[in-house]
Amino acid sequence: MMERPDIFLRKVSLFADLSEDDLKKVARLVRSRQYSKHEVIFHANDDGNALFILKSGVVKISMMDQEAHEVILKLLYPGDFFGEMALLDGQHRSATVTAVERSESLVLEREAFLNILHQQPELLLAMLLTVCRRLRQTDEKIRSLMFADAYGKVAETLLRLSNEKGERGGDGICIRLPFSSKELANLVGITRQTLSRVMREYQRAGVLRIAGRQIFIIDEARLQREALG
Ligand code: CMP
Repeated sequence: MMERPDIFLRKVSLFADLSEDDLKKVARLVRSRQYSKHEVIFHANDDGNALFILKSGVVKISMMDQEAHEVILKLLYPGDFFGEMALLDGQHRSATVTAVERSESLVLEREAFLNILHQQPELLLAMLLTVCRRLRQTDEKIRSLMFADAYGKVAETLLRLSNEKGERGGDGICIRLPFSSKELANLVGITRQTLSRVMREYQRAGVLRIAGRQIFIIDEARLQREALG
């Protein structure tokens, strides 16, 4: 059964402080959009003046270099928002956003967003906290890309994925990849060949266990040491 927008919005941390009435108002202002697997939601450099809140599925934030090599900056999950940058600064979209699997977003146009902001200025603080967290992660990623070797880069990415979506169990922390090893390599920032060499070595050393698209982190402490380089 489809979840009502106001019931879903109650669970979105961005709207945690909104009253029932304000939340219902937001629910009336959003429209729902469905995306199929691999569908581009918008491209880098597009004009854009809407905020998106992911209701279901997974999306990736990415950029392309001159030779169409993809760099994945981040994955977003239900409850996360995106598109706030162009919405706030009026410039073009800073990155491409693509549905990694079938996804649904709630879309809030700029006018409606400003309208809500007028009555709930604290919303901007909640948004800023998330943007700060993402900037810290991006800083961490830059550090890793510049200074870590391939083992450190893989460790940093896997620890981040496990913080975001890992499930702790008897077998260690399980990360379910929503995509292929090619895209994991694009998220780490190394080639697929290097990724498979590093993963093989981590498996051999008992740090990871890999079963299809599931990665089990067995030795978290070792990954943390590798990530610190
Ligand atoms: P916008 O620039 O409107 O469109 C692309 C969106 O991707 C952007 O807003 C942010 O929501 C998101 N985004 C861009 N860069 C990053 C990043 N480094 N980390 C997380 N999200 C990002």
